[in-house]
Amino acid sequence: MKDLLHTGVADEGGKRNACVVTAPPATEIPASLAKARLLASLQDRRSWKPAMMDPDREVPRALLTTLLEAACLAPTHGLTEPWRFLIVTGEARQRLATHLPTVYDLVTPAAQQRPEKRAKLTTLFHQAPVTIILACHHAPDSKIPLLENQLAVACAVQNLHLAAHAAGLAAMWSTPPLVYTEAAKPVLGLETHEHGLGFFFLGWPQPGSSPPPISRQPWPEKTRWITC
Ligand SMILES: Cc1cc2nc3c(=O)[nH]c(=O)nc-3n(C[C@H](O)[C@H](O)[C@H](O)COP(=O)(O)O)c2cc1C
Repeated sequence: MKDLLHTGVADEGGKRNACVVTAPPATEIPASLAKARLLASLQDRRSWKPAMMDPDREVPRALLTTLLEAACLAPTHGLTEPWRFLIVTGEARQRLATHLPTVYDLVTPAAQQRPEKRAKLTTLFHQAPVTIILACHHAPDSKIPLLENQLAVACAVQNLHLAAHAAGLAAMWSTPPLVYTEAAKPVLGLETHEHGLGFFFLGWPQPGSSPPPISRQPWPEKTRWITC
């Protein structure tokens, strides 16, 4: 039996036994992960509403570059690297604030229209100094399923979020339903085969503000051990 920890599958005399799955004893984890700061960072990362960001404090382009480099390190099946990031700053934010409410009117069924949701589309982009439009590039003849390309983008967004957190920035992924529509594509600046996956708001935290702590259900409630 070799390297159980990494494969999770026993290999006895060349015969694989998919029945055996083990995990390292909990006490070994901090030692083997000398990078316990990574775990702390995962625990501390939060979603910050744009209203909690300082609208007047710019995020330097060099820092944005670092975050984007981190995002692009995400895993990607078939190396399609499907993530696309459109960085909207400064005056360009007004274009989104001007045109997205019209898209909202167009794509939202009358019975579901909410004035406060529409109004948010005019304010959000000025509360956050940076909006990153998130998109997935997926060619129709791709050998990789659309879902897998979208999953790779989600991995990239998590990298982005963790890197932003490490830099002391506040960030949030937001997905108003209109981002998925064809009508929004020209306003968002998306090209053929690029599918909108949301907005990533980014900025420095307003002094004294912080998002409420959010707990998760204990991991055993989400886990089943398959041992035989
Ligand atoms: C794919 C995705 C879409 C999200 N969309 C929204 C959204 O539209 N509005 C919002 O307030 N938060 C959105 N969030 C952020 C969640 O609300 C947030 O992750 C959740 O409340 C847990 O908080 P935490 O990120 O601070 O742990 C989204 C998160 C993900 C992963």
